[in-house]
Amino acid sequence: MIIRIENIADYVDQTITIQGWIYAKTGKGKLHFIQLRDGTGIAQCVVFQKEVSEEVFDVTQQLTQESSVLLTGTVRKDERAPGVPGGYEVGVTDIQVIQSVNEYPITPKEHGVEFLLDRRHLWIRSSRQWAILRIRACIMRSIREWLDENGFLEMTTPVITPAAVEGTSTLFEIDYFDKTAYLCQTGQLYNEANIAAFGKVYAFGPTFRAEKSKTRRHLTEFWMVEPEIAYCDLVQLLEIEEQFVSHIVQSCLQKCSAELALLGRDISMLSNIKPPFPRITYDNAIERLIDLKNETDDPEQKSLIDIEWGDDFGAPHETALTKMFDKPVFVTHYPTQVKAFYMPVLENRPEVCYSADLLAPEGYGEIIGGSERIHDHDTLVNRIKEHDLPIETYDWYLDLRKYGSVPHSGFGLGIERTVSWICGIEHIRETSPYPRMINRDNP
Ligand code: 4AD
Ligand code: MG
Repeated sequence: MIIRIENIADYVDQTITIQGWIYAKTGKGKLHFIQLRDGTGIAQCVVFQKEVSEEVFDVTQQLTQESSVLLTGTVRKDERAPGVPGGYEVGVTDIQVIQSVNEYPITPKEHGVEFLLDRRHLWIRSSRQWAILRIRACIMRSIREWLDENGFLEMTTPVITPAAVEGTSTLFEIDYFDKTAYLCQTGQLYNEANIAAFGKVYAFGPTFRAEKSKTRRHLTEFWMVEPEIAYCDLVQLLEIEEQFVSHIVQSCLQKCSAELALLGRDISMLSNIKPPFPRITYDNAIERLIDLKNETDDPEQKSLIDIEWGDDFGAPHETALTKMFDKPVFVTHYPTQVKAFYMPVLENRPEVCYSADLLAPEGYGEIIGGSERIHDHDTLVNRIKEHDLPIETYDWYLDLRKYGSVPHSGFGLGIERTVSWICGIEHIRETSPYPRMINRDNP
């Protein structure tokens, strides 16, 4: 019977076959230990000379890393056996080699990250990458789960678009039959049209930004989920966000405990992620950063977190802020000048807008950007002009403010940033199966 390693516990004392690849092999003399992976897990398989034919024992001795095999044996419960899930091993009776591999390029020794990224198509087989990408899939599944169960309708939005939304400096331009078009930075404007048809919607897909700097947090192609809600203000929006993010984290803890353990992730902070999340204003965040700077002796840290009211946060500011809380923290009411054209300003304080970012704890920083949207036609026209954007490309968007305009809000959660945080990893490049960065478009 062919089984999947993830279900190995159901087959104790039974003879089974696993379709897999040799992840590692140790042992010598009469006893060999094979770590076999099949995509769903890793199982320790034991080959004991006495228990197999001469031929099978010969095959075992010649097995190489990443050779593909059909392995047959009996499942035994053994608390000490490593693997995912651990605690079971297979007493091998037969091995059939499908392809024998000659010198797999990624060996258990340390490789540089560029070497590994050049071989990303193979690197994804390594247990750490496997765990990260399984958690990514779990995050994506739990996102759809929560939104579908809470009355949001998934709507696709175009990748090829005529307009800038999140600033003009990060646009990828394409030649669209002798006209200029752009890869989408966000699906938001289309979401705003879709809510007038469907009430609550979400877009979920790849988005593109020509990020010219190398950082640990930026990709040029990343996935974003963007819920948008009609008749919704900032207060209501943040309640949705905290429920949504808590569901994602709790789902991962529940369904990916083995993967998190494999990454050595300390989950004590994650367990704590439940509503409500703290909320601070941008004003308060600035005060906190100035206080922190005054209390800090380290001149380098002082200059890193140096900031004035009106500046956007950089990574060091967000990192410092998140370390003041044990949950994700909302920073609300950012300066109008650092945010996008579509965000409404406070009536009595136009230098500030109805916006909120959600910063993930443990230093991770922004995972969500969200806001109310200007719903008055003339105000929106003025803002588009102030931002020097070509008004004619926003014709259809302005229609939405003529035909049944309502207060509405929405947000975008970056998938790769969320994966980084939940997995507890340093650099965003490991969170995407095939990351795209300024110096990487291959494989
Ligand atoms: O804050 P941003 O730019 O917001 C928007 O695009 C809104 N239109 C979303 C909306 O309201 N519908 O981006 C949203 C999130 C960020 O918080 C971050 O998690 C992620 O997208 N993000 C990136 N992730 C990886 N690499 C990049 N270059 C990213 N830029 C943004
Ligand atoms: Mg943002």
